[in-house]
Amino acid sequence: MSLTIKPNRRHALALAAAGVAALALPLGTARAQGKLKIGTIGAGSLGGAVGALWVKAGHEVMFSSRSPDELKTLVAELGPNARAGTVQEAIAFGDAILLAIPYAAYPEAGKAYGEALKGKIVMDAGNANRSDLFEETKRNGIGVTTKKFFPGARLVRAFNAANNRLFTENAGKEPRMAIPLAGDDAAALKVVSDLVTSARLEPLVVGGLKDADRFAMGTDGFGHVLPAKELAAKLGVTH
Ligand SMILES: NC(=O)c1ccc[n+]([C@@H]2O[C@H](COP(=O)([O-])OP(=O)(O)OC[C@H]3O[C@@H](n4cnc5c(N)ncnc54)[C@H](OP(=O)(O)O)[C@@H]3O)[C@@H](O)[C@H]2O)c1
Repeated sequence: MSLTIKPNRRHALALAAAGVAALALPLGTARAQGKLKIGTIGAGSLGGAVGALWVKAGHEVMFSSRSPDELKTLVAELGPNARAGTVQEAIAFGDAILLAIPYAAYPEAGKAYGEALKGKIVMDAGNANRSDLFEETKRNGIGVTTKKFFPGARLVRAFNAANNRLFTENAGKEPRMAIPLAGDDAAALKVVSDLVTSARLEPLVVGGLKDADRFAMGTDGFGHVLPAKELAAKLGVTH
C-alpha cells in the first residue's frame, strides 16, 4: 500500500473531530483515571488522526504547529481534552510526545527541539522514503537515524507502518489492528504499548530500535491491517 491519501490538516482534524466530540471524557474525569498528557509535534494527517484517537480515549492532547492559531478552531471541535500550542509548549506539556513531521525536517527539528526532548518518551512516526535521508536510513536503520537527530530522547518507533486513515477506521474494530513498535527503552515501550491499547488498537513490540527496519515503509512489514498474532508471524516475531 502507499501513503498517497493526503487530506489537508483542516480536513483530517475535522474528520477526526466528528467522531470524537461526543465521546471525550471531562478533563477532571480523565485526570482521575490517570490519563497521560500527550504532545504532538506536527498536527497534519498523522498527528491529527492519532492525536484524535487519544482525545477520544480521554487523554489530554496538545496539538502543535509552528502556526498554532491555525489549529485553534479545529481542536475546539475535538472537545475540552484537546488544545493547540507551539511545538515548545507541546513538548513541555506532554508526558509522551508524538513526532509526526516530514522526515526531511528531522535535522532542523533536532536542532530546534532536541534539547527539550531529552528524557521524553517520543513516538517516532516518520517515514523517510520521500526524503534525502532515505539512503541513510536504509544503510544505518531508521530508528538509529532518528536517534542521531534526537539523542537522549526515549524513542519508540510507532504509528509509522500504515496510512493514518487505517488507524482511524480500524480503531475499536475486532480483531484489533496491530501497531508494530520498536525501541530500546523497555519502560518507554510499555507506556507506548498502553497508549496504543488506549487508542483501541493492539501493540506489537517487534524489538529494539534496529528492528524498526522490519516494518519500515517499503518493506514487507509495512501497510498491514492484521491482529498482532498474524503480524507477528509475518514479521517473524514471537508473540
Ligand atoms: N499521513 C500518514 O498517513 C502517515 C502514516 C504514517 C506515517 N506518517 C509520517 O508522519 C509524518 C507526518 O506526515 P503527515 O502526513 O502527517 O504530514 P502533513 O500532513 O504534511 O503534516 C506535517 C506536519 O509537520 C509539521 N512540520 C513540518 N515541518 C516542521 C518542522 N520543521 N518543525 C515542526 N513541525 C513541522 C507541520 O506543521 P506546521 O507547518 O503547521 O508547523 C505539519 O503539522 C511523516 O514523517 C510521514 O512519513 C504519515
